[in-house]
Amino acid sequence: MIGRNITGKAKIAGIIGWPVGHSLSPALHGYWLEEHGIDGALVPLPARAEDFAAILDGVRRAGFTGVNVTVPHKESAFALAHDTDRAARISGAANLLGFAGGRILARNTDGFGLQHSLREALGPDALSGQVAVMLGAGGAARGGILALQAVGVRTIHILNRDPARAKSLAASLGKDITATLLPGGLPDWPSRAGEAALLLNTTSAGMGSIPPLALDLGALNPDAAVCDIVYNPLETPLLKDAKARGLRTIDGLGMLMHQAVPSFEMFFGVRPAVTPGLRAALEKVLRERG
Ligand code: ATR
Repeated sequence: MIGRNITGKAKIAGIIGWPVGHSLSPALHGYWLEEHGIDGALVPLPARAEDFAAILDGVRRAGFTGVNVTVPHKESAFALAHDTDRAARISGAANLLGFAGGRILARNTDGFGLQHSLREALGPDALSGQVAVMLGAGGAARGGILALQAVGVRTIHILNRDPARAKSLAASLGKDITATLLPGGLPDWPSRAGEAALLLNTTSAGMGSIPPLALDLGALNPDAAVCDIVYNPLETPLLKDAKARGLRTIDGLGMLMHQAVPSFEMFFGVRPAVTPGLRAALEKVLRERG
């Protein structure tokens, strides 16, 4: 636990969700606040769905600079904003709300976070012109597609347990995305895996007590990388399997840290850096939590 004092003039931001007790955001922003000596705090705001709008209005009126938004409020956050950025509009969801001049600005920085995590792990242009397989077609998959497009991926196979959902995701994003989107089901994995430079899991399979997907990673090229956006646990069964096969792996902490950069800048007016020290601090929090 990082101990810091704040004054009556402190800049206050929040992380709003239900539940919110597991969130790493207070520790993440706390690390940067300490690093930059900022008079501020980011506090957890547990909010049930029916209380979300009232709590948001309350903290906005109380002078909060903004809030990060997590499950299950990302769609509601988008819906009640006055202004929205392109990523939020494409996702139909927001993970960041800024309060200024009586207006609410909704942004979505999840895709940005994943994009920078991939660039940091693999090199800035490593995925340019490449093929990726993305697992999942839910809310997180939308940010996944934005990130893959931003790093220059040419073809994205979208494989989902329910293939109809993959198809409708591809159809709904087609006009905003120049990469070729090829939907399918999980049984398509063996025939799609071979040419992929990246496997990206955006499903909740492998998180907490949800069993992982039974995919044979032997179908991947040995040069391929495997990325999981789940960070609970940090080493998911998918990443463990990939590591054991000698494949490069990218865990979900990278995306979490990078998505927070624009949030912190909006809340506290300083653009922070993602550093090994920050990762070590967050890994310690996760370890202590068990
Ligand atoms: P999120 O916003 O986290 O993406 P979501 O919109 O509920 O949440 O989407 C969850 C994703 O994980 C979906 O792609 C879902 O597959 P279905 O569309 O077929 O439901 C996938 N998912 C969740 N649990 C899964 C499991 N046990 N096996 C396979 N896919 C799973």
